[in-house]
Amino acid sequence: MSAAATGAGPASAPPVGPGPVWDVVNGLAAFGALSAALELGLFDALVAAGEPGLPPAELAAAVSAADADAVALLADVLVSLGLLTGDGRAVRLLPVAERFLVSGSPASMAALGRLSPGPWSGWQQLAATIRTGAVPAGTRDELTAMYPALVSATAPTQRAVATGVAAALAERGLWPAAPRVVDLGCGSGAWLAALLADRPAATAVGVDLPGVLPVARQTVAGLGVRVTLVEGDYLEVDVPRGSADVVVLAHVLRAEPAERARRLLLRALELLAPGGVVVVADYPRPDPVAAPDPGRDAVLAGARHELLLSLTMAAATDGHGLTLADLRSWAADGGARLTDVLQPVPRQTVLLIRPDSSTATER
Ligand SMILES: C[S@@+](CC[C@H](N)C(=O)[O-])C[C@H]1O[C@@H](n2cnc3c(N)ncnc32)[C@H](O)[C@@H]1O
Repeated sequence: MSAAATGAGPASAPPVGPGPVWDVVNGLAAFGALSAALELGLFDALVAAGEPGLPPAELAAAVSAADADAVALLADVLVSLGLLTGDGRAVRLLPVAERFLVSGSPASMAALGRLSPGPWSGWQQLAATIRTGAVPAGTRDELTAMYPALVSATAPTQRAVATGVAAALAERGLWPAAPRVVDLGCGSGAWLAALLADRPAATAVGVDLPGVLPVARQTVAGLGVRVTLVEGDYLEVDVPRGSADVVVLAHVLRAEPAERARRLLLRALELLAPGGVVVVADYPRPDPVAAPDPGRDAVLAGARHELLLSLTMAAATDGHGLTLADLRSWAADGGARLTDVLQPVPRQTVLLIRPDSSTATER
């Protein structure tokens, strides 16, 4: 054990404090605070109050809470977490909360904030899952049951991402006047709706499991025959090969074990028409390194969001997230390559993968 760790070092080297440990332990309490505030409608109450904000007693009344002292404590916690601001008398929203935590905001994460960690049982049993290599059946079932709510909760964010992707495809000459789109694992249908809104002559096929497809059906109801929804496993269902200009794989690869993810990417490539592109939206975690890298800690610290979202997959699915190295290698197996890494909105990564045949002339 090092002198610093035992606290027995020279006076000039202060003992290591437990701050990072407490920060991690308190992560659960911070999530609980956010979750409770969302459930109480605290951010919505503050947006209604406007610029002066609300004193805790009035905030408690606005969210129908009997315990005004606990509301004051919760508000102080949310100030400490950088979501609210106050002067000791009243609290009000910071811009980040107004944009992402108010339920009516176009970029709202109010529903997603509570659902994003997935089934709680997955976290309680993570050590056992890692030890045995198998996610408990009950956790899988919980995730399947959560999917309709989860995909609805991500819809505002994913609409914004897809709108940004349409612009990026157009800039690259990859977005024809009447594009044919296939979305494998289409979830809420947010991508289909946003992409088709950008091109009135576009048509699309969306694939998802029976429990989720009704959510997509509702989203695309106004698009009539322009969208065909197909129920079933995206590796199995019948979708015409060689005819899509854009195939979307949004937040599906990371939840699949490596071999199924590879097959899914290869399938997406097979669906493309000449000149087409596969759009992968995901949270790629850092590639493994071939040799020791003294800067590795900093790389991982910078990728905490992607790493924790990958661990979220490991807690409830057969997937462990994915890396760009995975994608490059699978794409190469399909005669394609990763051509672009985009960030249409902050914290949302989108990768473009194109067959070598269509990029050869551009090199
Ligand atoms: C995290 S959601 C992503 C939804 C959407 N692509 C998005 O980005 O908003 C994953 C979706 O994949 C669907 N899914 C999972 N396994 C599937 C399978 N084997 N076949 C078809 N869809 C599947 C789920 O039902 C869910 O809608």
